[in-house]
Amino acid sequence: MSDTTADVPTAVPAVLVEGVDKVFDTKKGTVTALEQIDLTVAPGEFVSLIGPSGCGKSTLLRLIADLDTPTTGSLTVFGKTARQARIDQEYGIAFQQAGLLPWRDVSANIELPLELHGVGKAARAARSAELLALVGLSDFADSYPDQLSGGMQQRVAIARSLAESPRLLLMDEPFGALDEMTRERMQTELVRITAETGAAVVFVTHSIPEAVYLSNRVVVMSPRPGRIRDITTVSLGSAAERTEQLREDEAFFENVSIVRELLHGETPVGIRGVENR
Ligand SMILES: Nc1ncnc2c1ncn2[C@@H]1O[C@H](COP(=O)(O)OP(=O)(O)OP(=O)(O)O)[C@@H](O)[C@H]1O
Ligand SMILES: [Mg+2]
Repeated sequence: MSDTTADVPTAVPAVLVEGVDKVFDTKKGTVTALEQIDLTVAPGEFVSLIGPSGCGKSTLLRLIADLDTPTTGSLTVFGKTARQARIDQEYGIAFQQAGLLPWRDVSANIELPLELHGVGKAARAARSAELLALVGLSDFADSYPDQLSGGMQQRVAIARSLAESPRLLLMDEPFGALDEMTRERMQTELVRITAETGAAVVFVTHSIPEAVYLSNRVVVMSPRPGRIRDITTVSLGSAAERTEQLREDEAFFENVSIVRELLHGETPVGIRGVENR
């Protein structure tokens, strides 16, 4: 899939990160969270970030989402500054914390981005019903966030991020709070949804199989200061080929091994598909 996107060099990248460093000033001194990050995400491409805790994955996502600014380097989203892209609501966000509004029921939370964009009441209700069915929460439309489990709240947040069918999704361990069965179902759904809507995704995860199952490319990061160690292309075919069966395939395990070895700082045996940035 990344091969087809690579065939369209004139397309404006969904995300373009060039020479980005992020240094935090703390009471104990400075912390270099990110160093010399270069990354291009093509429209419609699914890219996962994986790496040890504290390597700067969330920081990178927060920079793309304009929740923080880089110390050096530049960053654009669909050719716009991160700030302009945020103002134009170019992307949907689902982060580690569900971040729901406690005084709004589930439907009203999902409808929030639509409301902000002036979508009418009937259209909002129809869209939220559709999304609730998708995340398996149709019976909870009138519930309030504190009446839901952590995993259910997370599914509401995912539904909300999809409300406007954004062409970019920024997701930070969105499935971390889900049980294994639900997690795999949501992964399959996410592959389907992004294929249907043509959305690009930048997806942070700690799970190697999750990264491999979902992604066109996996970005492997090294511990502090967070750098990109390698980027590997996952050659498991199109969304249609990412079935439940794929999880049992030899090719799937091969890709899992490659990412695992890169994470451990080894050069994978018989490495395939690893590109030089
Ligand atoms: N606002 C902040 N102020 C100071 N330091 C920060 C801030 N945010 C992040 N850091 C530091 O930057 C580094 C990267 O943090 P970040 O949250 O991006 O890691 P991560 O890769 O997402 O980790 P995890 O997998 O545990 O979520 C850490 O050392 C962290 O302490
Ligand atoms: Mg994080």
